[in-house]
Amino acid sequence: MPSTILVTGGAGYIGSHTAKELARAGYRVVVYDNLCRGHRWAVRWGPLEEGDLHDQEKLERVLVQHRVDAVLHFAGLIAVGESMQVPELYFHTNVGGTMSLLNAMRSAGVRRIVFSSTAGVYGVPEAIPIEETAPTIPLSPYGDSKLMVEKILAWEGICHGLSWAALRYFNAAGCDAEGETGEDHAPETHLIPCLLEAAQGLRDACPLFGFDYPTPDGTCIRDYVHVTDLADAHVKALKYLEGGGAGVALNLGTGKGFSVSEILAAAEKTIGRPVPVVKQPRRPGDAPVLVAAAHRAREVLGWQPTRSSLDSILETAWRWLRSHRGAGALIV
Ligand code: UFG
Repeated sequence: MPSTILVTGGAGYIGSHTAKELARAGYRVVVYDNLCRGHRWAVRWGPLEEGDLHDQEKLERVLVQHRVDAVLHFAGLIAVGESMQVPELYFHTNVGGTMSLLNAMRSAGVRRIVFSSTAGVYGVPEAIPIEETAPTIPLSPYGDSKLMVEKILAWEGICHGLSWAALRYFNAAGCDAEGETGEDHAPETHLIPCLLEAAQGLRDACPLFGFDYPTPDGTCIRDYVHVTDLADAHVKALKYLEGGGAGVALNLGTGKGFSVSEILAAAEKTIGRPVPVVKQPRRPGDAPVLVAAAHRAREVLGWQPTRSSLDSILETAWRWLRSHRGAGALIV
């Protein structure tokens, strides 16, 4: 009988892509999502249990009823800027919600969890590329909420034998190559979808934040990794835990950085026309350069990104945007 995996936040961007990869790898998927930011249409690879992370009783019931073997935990709030305005909401959801999940897992006897963490745990790095052993000094409540959960997982491992992996994503981008799911945030704040929305006429122009960074062209450098590569890393992390792997926090990135100006040029090449942009001052909280040291995930999980070229990221994201939000669609 195949193992059953509960995917919290499985109606969201990275969660839904991972649900697809899990199903492809032969797992049974159950999605747990309150649909506050996720989408019913993104739940295609298993049943939806609609519920909130804070509903510990419901979580416990779902874990027992579906005989869940492990949890992939994506549910949470992800907007750095919003977290600066309402930090309490981020700690309530990302930390409090995860505590409720961990309590439910303990009661139901579920002992494995793969957790969505972020490069945001590092703050402004002292050295590039960023090793997992680098200091963790988050610049936002969002990043700190993820770091707090990593620490909770480590203690649950020590005190209760929880088996855990925290995956620190760099810049998730791109969409399912078969167009079955994709990125749909409201409001959208990430660079690549904002550029594509501007190209599609869904917004007047994409703001570009900051041209005076200490980088070769003055714009911020990020490590963009295709969402399907991230999904694949989750399946590998699950297998690692199933094989008795020790608790671990790993970077998920490619080890190669691109500047905002380079992304704009690559997007214009994919789209075949100029993208309307407006130069803006720096966005508060942006680190100049975030590039992963990517060797640990390769050594521990045997994971290597294979779809994360800029071409593949931009082509899949552009195809998705046009099919999902054709010209004239309104931004809400
Ligand atoms: N940017 C623009 N214009 C936009 C959006 C972004 O110029 O409309 C710039 C940003 O200033 C930054 C780069 O593009 O320099 C990438 O920004 P994103 O918003 O796409 O992504 P971030 O690097 O800010 O965020 C990512 C993850 C977060 C994580 C963070 C760590 O999405 O989860 O990295 O810093 F916390």
